[in-house]
Amino acid sequence: MKALILSGGKGTRLRPLTYTGAKQLVPVANKPILWYGIEAIVAAGITEIGIIISPETGGEIEQVTGDGSQFGAKITYILQDQPLGLAHAVKIAQPFLGDSAFVMYLGDNLVQSDLGAFVNHFKDQHLDAMTLLCQVPNPSAFGVAKVDETGKLLQLVEKPKDPPSNLALVGIYLFTAGIHEAIASIQPSARGELEITDAIQMLLNWEKNVEAHQIQGWWLDTGKKDDLLEANRVILDEYTDAEQHGEVDDQSQVIGRVHIEPGAKIINSTIRGPVVVGADCHIENSFIGPYSSIADNVTIIHADLEHSVLLEGTEVKNVHQRIVDSLVGRRAKLTEAPQRPTAIRLMLGDDSKLELPM
Ligand code: TTP
Repeated sequence: MKALILSGGKGTRLRPLTYTGAKQLVPVANKPILWYGIEAIVAAGITEIGIIISPETGGEIEQVTGDGSQFGAKITYILQDQPLGLAHAVKIAQPFLGDSAFVMYLGDNLVQSDLGAFVNHFKDQHLDAMTLLCQVPNPSAFGVAKVDETGKLLQLVEKPKDPPSNLALVGIYLFTAGIHEAIASIQPSARGELEITDAIQMLLNWEKNVEAHQIQGWWLDTGKKDDLLEANRVILDEYTDAEQHGEVDDQSQVIGRVHIEPGAKIINSTIRGPVVVGADCHIENSFIGPYSSIADNVTIIHADLEHSVLLEGTEVKNVHQRIVDSLVGRRAKLTEAPQRPTAIRLMLGDDSKLELPM
């Protein structure tokens, strides 16, 4: 069995971060989202992994993720010139996939479930395809499954106005090589994409053996800021350990599960976990509240923040309001104005969002 991770696409919903970087590399609890998928795939016993990349962000993904040896896998990168749909990505990966059955995994998804158990079921039952479903409050934003009372999959619809159920398609699918024939027989949708839901629907029309299973744990699609902060909260809650490799001075208090990487200095500050602090950070006279992920080389002086994700190299100095629910891009600088401001001075990238207090 092989795996295909889709890590191309445009990432429009995470602009401006995705102007300069891949959304699948945005860190959750200081680890790129993509790596959680790779680790889940390897834990399921699959080590031959193809990763779909785009011309814009592929180089960065390849550089950060490497040949797979750090995960005990062999990674092949497959360039998709344009994001023409999930089924299009499978089509161009056909030379890599060959006759093999495979797991298809969306590179911006985080899923709490035992992928290995699904892989075993798929193999044991000789299925042609298997989809995973999760109950969501807003099914119209997703691919939605219609199932009968026994849970049998009847129909799939992409982003329906009038959803037939609240069961959304989680970004993990299992296929045999038969999916290639189904993809060859579909046409691009109204939005110009080759839809994987249409290809699976084709398998259903051909009365192939397709099953849908509801996952029990959480599923987080990290495409937007609030989803990403929620993913960060859930992952920090679940996985943060209390290992402290950096230096914490006597005036500081570190409470609860706080992971501190080597080279980080905590001076006269309070950190209340769950929190991760990256390598070589400098935190002084500050309060870092729960559910915060501070990447490597971040400086925080005289500031107060919680439930936020700060990317590498960010500087936050002398900010008098508490920073909450924020996602701050790499090397961004937040500082106080020289006097009590009657005017604010900004340098914000395209599509930035700044909420100012009244
Ligand atoms: P989406 O989130 O559906 O698409 P997107 O990345 O273009 O994001 P946005 O809606 O914010 O513009 O894609 C799901 C995953 O699949 C994501 O990791 C990107 C990847 N993908 C491809 O690799 N190729 C494609 O053609 C498409 C559409 C998505």
